[in-house]
This record gives sequence, structure tokens and C-alpha cells, in this order.
Amino acid sequence: MCKLWLAPLRGVTIRAFREVFTEAIREAGFVGAFAPFIPANPGIRVCDRLLADLEPFPRDVQPSLPLVPQVITKHPDAMRTLLRAFRERGFDRADLNAGCPFPMIVRRGRGSGLLRTPDLLEALLAAGCEEMGPGKFSLKVRLGVESPDDLRALLPRINRYPLAALTVHARTARQMYEGEVDRARFAEILAESANPVIYNGDAELERLGDLPDGVSGVMVGRAFVRALGARADADALLRAYVARSREELCGDVPVLGRMKELVSYWCAVPRWRRLWSVVKLCRTVDELLSLVN
Ligand SMILES: Cc1cc2nc3c(=O)[nH]c(=O)nc-3n(C[C@H](O)[C@H](O)[C@H](O)COP(=O)(O)O)c2cc1C
Repeated sequence: MCKLWLAPLRGVTIRAFREVFTEAIREAGFVGAFAPFIPANPGIRVCDRLLADLEPFPRDVQPSLPLVPQVITKHPDAMRTLLRAFRERGFDRADLNAGCPFPMIVRRGRGSGLLRTPDLLEALLAAGCEEMGPGKFSLKVRLGVESPDDLRALLPRINRYPLAALTVHARTARQMYEGEVDRARFAEILAESANPVIYNGDAELERLGDLPDGVSGVMVGRAFVRALGARADADALLRAYVARSREELCGDVPVLGRMKELVSYWCAVPRWRRLWSVVKLCRTVDELLSLVN
């Protein structure tokens, strides 16, 4: 059975989420989580608030689940500075985001835009492997930007670096997060990668057996967050998430925003689908809490 990793979902699988839902994360069989990306830009100090999101989880309970911090950048030197900050915080692994599909990010040559600049991608891989050490730096990537063949063409260059893993979201950036995953292309990458390959894209937790042999891991994000809504303790967990978020955030607006984002994932469950039409209109956290058990 290959290893199950929690996907980074910016604004969703954040520290407070990882803490409140630790037991559900463990029960689902995850061996660890990738944290949402932190940008690295030249001349800009690493933001303490973003680094503070990287606490091991659960707090005060051993053993904690491994957390892999992630960087998004096109600047090798700025990335090195951020990787050093990760190391100072006790992390011995880090991941580079070459998968983000948002047009503004791609146009600026970051995220999946790195697939268009192979020399720069290599410079980042070289810097990452040197800074973290062999087998301690990983790459999360799409099949391509427009074409699903981009990654395959780059693979001989990526294979030069001793990565902890190559996580492949088996869609192009153009597809964003919807549409068919390309399992055939994924299987080609798997066969030709010199590094361990993690599958990402459409894995439902109960269908992991369908993946090709040789996959070293599976990364799951949205399916796990959606499944939380079907748990018998979903209401209690939502209340705990509100309480934890109130400790961290100032005022109702950001707490409410966080809860609405979570509940929007739970609409596959009929009860939450019915509640969602009211939840999305709530203007205070107390209004939202009055709707749940
Ligand atoms: C709201 C949202 C935020 C995301 N944030 C990140 C991120 O910070 N870093 C990253 O590598 N991928 C990010 N992704 C992509 C996911 O990690 C994952 O590749 C994608 O959702 C497909 O996997 P899934 O269907 O299992 O969720 C994000 C996706 C979503 C929907």
C-alpha cells in the first residue's frame, strides 16, 4: 500500500485545520501533509505569519505527523533563504511548487510557469537539493501548462536531481482543477522517472487500489475535505474549528470566511447542501453556530 499524503490547499489545509482535524487525518491513513505554499521573493523578508503556519501537528502530542513546507518562487537565492528558515524551524524536507495554474502566477513564471523555463527549473532543483540535501527536496508539478507533454519532455532534466519525490497532478495547468486526469500520461512519467512518484489529481480515498504499480504515494486534498462533512462529528469539529480560529484571527469576518470555505466543500452531503444556502448568507459567526448542532 503506497503512502497517503494530505495535499496543500491554500486557505484550507492550514495549521488550524491540521490541528483541529488531526484525528480525522490520522484515521484516513495519511502519513503526513504538505503545507500550502509560501512565496520567496528577492529583497522581501520571509513573513513570520506564514512561517508560524508551519507548526508540527498535533501540538504537544508525539509523534507528530510529518509536515513538508512548500515554496513558490522563480528566484533560486530567495528560495535558499526561505529553505534556511525552514531548516531553522526544524524541517529537514521542503517542496517546490511547479503546479499552481493561476494565469497571473503562470505569466510571471512561477508555479506551473516554471515548466516553460527549464534552465530556471533546473537551477531551482539544484539549489533545493544542495540546501536541503539529497533526497530531501521535492517537486510538485502538472503534466504541462497547455500541453500534457511538457513534463515528459523535461523529465530527463528533472531526473538529474535526487528528489524525495516528484508529485504529479495529472492535469495541465489549463485544466485548472477540473476535467479528466490523464492517467496514461501519468503512467509514462511514472515509468520514466528516476525519482519516487506521488500521484495527485482525482484520488477518492476508497479507490486508491486502482493506481499503477510502482507509485510511491498518493496525495489527496479535496476528497478528504469533502469527506469530513459526512462524519457523525462534523458539527462538533466545525465548532472546534471556529473556537480555534477565534484564538488566531481578529473579528468575525475572517473566521466566517474560513468556515464558509470549509462548508462549501461539504455540499455533497444533503444536510450540508441544504444548510449551505443559509450558511453562505450568515453575517456573524454566532448566526452560523446557531445552524449547527
Ligand atoms: C483551494 C486550493 C488551494 C490549493 N493550494 C495549493 C498550494 O498551496 N500548493 C500546491 O502545491 N497545490 C495547491 N493546490 C492544488 C492541490 O494541492 C492539488 O494538487 C489539487 O487540488 C488536486 O488534488 P485533489 O483533487 O486531491 O484536491 C490547491 C488546490 C485548491 C483547490
